[in-house]
Amino acid sequence: MICNIKEYDCWFQRRASVPLARLLGSVGLLEQSLVLENAAGELSALLTKNFAVLSVVEGKDAGTLIGTIPGLNAQLGLKLPSTKPEGFVIKVSDTRVIIAGQDEIGALYGVYRFLALLALGKINVGTELIDAPATQFRSLTHWDNISGDVIRGYAGKSLFYNNGRVDYDEQRVIDYARLLASIGINRLAIGGTFGPGPGQLLITESMLPDVARLAALFRPFGVKLLLNVKFSAPYTLGKLPTADPLDADVVAWWKERADLIYRYVPDLAGFVVKADSEMEPGPFDYGRNHAEGANALAAALAPHGGELVWRCFVYNCAQDWRDQSIDRARAAYDVFKPLDGMFADNVLLQVKFGPYDFQVLEPVSPLFGALSKTRYTLEVQVTQEYTGQQIDLCYLPYKWERILDFDTRYGPRSTLRELLIDGKISGVGAIPNVGLDHNWTGHTLAQANLYGYGRLCWDPSLSAEQIAREWSALTFTDASVADTVSELLLRSYPAYEKYNAPFGVCFMVTPAGHYGPNIEGYEFSPWGTYHRADRFAIGIDRTGSGTGYVTQYAPENAALFGDPATCPEQLILFFHRLRYDYVMKNGQTLLQNIYNTHFEGYDEVKHMLELWKGLKDWLDEHTYSSVLTRFERQLANAREWRDQINTYFWRKTGITDAHVRKIYE
Ligand code: GCU
Repeated sequence: MICNIKEYDCWFQRRASVPLARLLGSVGLLEQSLVLENAAGELSALLTKNFAVLSVVEGKDAGTLIGTIPGLNAQLGLKLPSTKPEGFVIKVSDTRVIIAGQDEIGALYGVYRFLALLALGKINVGTELIDAPATQFRSLTHWDNISGDVIRGYAGKSLFYNNGRVDYDEQRVIDYARLLASIGINRLAIGGTFGPGPGQLLITESMLPDVARLAALFRPFGVKLLLNVKFSAPYTLGKLPTADPLDADVVAWWKERADLIYRYVPDLAGFVVKADSEMEPGPFDYGRNHAEGANALAAALAPHGGELVWRCFVYNCAQDWRDQSIDRARAAYDVFKPLDGMFADNVLLQVKFGPYDFQVLEPVSPLFGALSKTRYTLEVQVTQEYTGQQIDLCYLPYKWERILDFDTRYGPRSTLRELLIDGKISGVGAIPNVGLDHNWTGHTLAQANLYGYGRLCWDPSLSAEQIAREWSALTFTDASVADTVSELLLRSYPAYEKYNAPFGVCFMVTPAGHYGPNIEGYEFSPWGTYHRADRFAIGIDRTGSGTGYVTQYAPENAALFGDPATCPEQLILFFHRLRYDYVMKNGQTLLQNIYNTHFEGYDEVKHMLELWKGLKDWLDEHTYSSVLTRFERQLANAREWRDQINTYFWRKTGITDAHVRKIYE
């Protein structure tokens, strides 16, 4: 056995030796602040724990100095270059290590990056590094319920709530804050996604002290809280006759409530709202538009410097499947594009990456790039609702890299990556994949998704492969084990795409639970996600002569997606209704390609399972067997997908597989 993983410690594993022990043996801090003191404390504690360096906090003669760039320059006459907010400089000479932040949070981030690079063997005498986050808003939104259940959570119960109360293990929350800060997450929304969730309760006087205590745990780590609130609160909580955002009493209620909340949490980052979405109350209930709705709440936050994160996940979820005039994919653009420029400055619209709902294969939403006068963020899921629920290995940075690659074709520098780096997209939000399971994420390898999310928010130009290699090397201390784990990660998303719904058709998943196949599960439901397969054809015509969805993109993309000959084939059934005998670029029919990908997807999982088995002698028993069990379950799931999809299409068409593989009757 070579790797003995402490799964709770995630990417902070113990190393056999450390270079520069002489300099790291003493850590000096010349300025005082909550976050800086925490940065120094974290460096000392983690050097001791993971690198066996015994360090003490001392004055300016220490071998390692932590501070802010302006502070260290002033006190020691240094000439450290300045960088962007929350950025840092690391400088290693043979007499001193300097970790200096542009501000106090930058220093903390510098400490974690230093420790990661130290573990990776990339810190040497002469190392000089300047780094800063691409975007200032890097958030996670918890969907935990006050009961302690986590909506779309696959790693145990909530870190924050239990049985109707705020109730947590303080050390665990601190350890969570460390994980978040170490990957640069600086916003954390608590309060649920829908239904009666805690969002409503948390803004009452009886629970605000709890929120204040949680905020205090996250504060030294530079993580500011956001609260999920309900649009109807003036009515349900305030007992006003209405929650109409243009009603003067409602406006006053929000203002008073915000004032109250800020007395408990003066540095609250703001609110998150899901309005008019999946039965949630919203401005439509009062005949108001979403700018009117959002601006009323934003006005209450503005005097406190708070921001309002307003989700764009708005669509008709009570559709009649018979009615082909409605296309759910159009909804976010139809609602929000006409309002571009009408939102207050402290509103951040949060746009799901795709027009549907975190699907395995769906295009990037046409809202990206189309909003030019409104601040907005990109929303993804780290929790694997549709991507295998932390039973199946599915490495999400692979997908996110492709999302960031998408060129919106609005002017120069128009990929999502460039829009994010240039500040035209104002940040990133996601739903985390953590819970009370000892390893945080259920599947130990799903820690890579949390890690990758933070790293990509920080630096969107990183590739999925770079992140996979970095995370694997930090977590699995043996290089050849780390190589195999990286390979597994990188194989996993393409494999998952292959055994899932074919070619961008989406939602062939089990209703409600969303694990495993149910090909017609959503076909006659009100949720607006149909594939309309018949004997001859499948898919929705979303071209100009169909639902018109494609016309929501910039002209070049509308043309690209609108023609089956140029449409990326992986997404072809999202945009087009095609006959099964449609010939694809490889010369084989659509149907034959559906069969092929499903056989291949299953075989790929089998191969992944074998790769994992090859690590048996190199891993501790617990890590090996817990991941093995998940791969075995994944294989069963892939088999189910393969056989249900192939049998379904065989039964519809009566056309057999050209390679005569086994398709069940
Ligand atoms: C999905 C998910 C819901 C969630 C919603 C959201 O629809 O299934 O559970 O509430 O996304 O983004 O709010």
